[in-house]
Amino acid sequence: MNNIILIGFMGAGKSTIGRKLARESGFLFVDTDDKIEEEQQEKISHIFETKGEACFRDMETQALKDLLGSGNSMIIAVGGGLPMREENRRLLKELGTVIYLKAGIDTLVRRLTGDTSRPKLQGGSSLREKIEDLMRQRESVYIGTADEEIFTDNLEPEEIAREIKDRFFPDL
Ligand code: S3P
Repeated sequence: MNNIILIGFMGAGKSTIGRKLARESGFLFVDTDDKIEEEQQEKISHIFETKGEACFRDMETQALKDLLGSGNSMIIAVGGGLPMREENRRLLKELGTVIYLKAGIDTLVRRLTGDTSRPKLQGGSSLREKIEDLMRQRESVYIGTADEEIFTDNLEPEEIAREIKDRFFPDL
């Protein structure tokens, strides 16, 4: 399928860049986190609290299956933990071209400081330690899943959206 899927760590800019890219390309923008919150009528932090992470992860898999059935020409931003499930990686590949938006630890710490909406970053050790720990578990999976990788640290969201557009929709 010809969708573009943006993966990467929380705070990497998947949703911001995805929205801009959708506007530029005329593709429909879908964010799996938003889709789940709308369908469940519940915030993700609340889903984690009341139903648990495993249940949220099942919802992510179901969201990908729904998208596979709903056609082409979408820009899809997915939650930072979604590619960690093998079944999800297979579904992502089926959906289209997967782009890893890579951001450095300092950038992520800066962007995620004060965030209270992401359950994986609450409580326990320092924010930097939590980010470093999760990144250690995830980075090789992001790299292994992606068809393309874009380093985002020194670029504005507009510039990244433009770069993706030029590479993937040169005719638009
Ligand atoms: C998560 C990332 C979040 C959201 C949930 C879990 C993760 O999405 O899916 O809080 O495990 O990395 P963003 O990457 O859009 O913040």
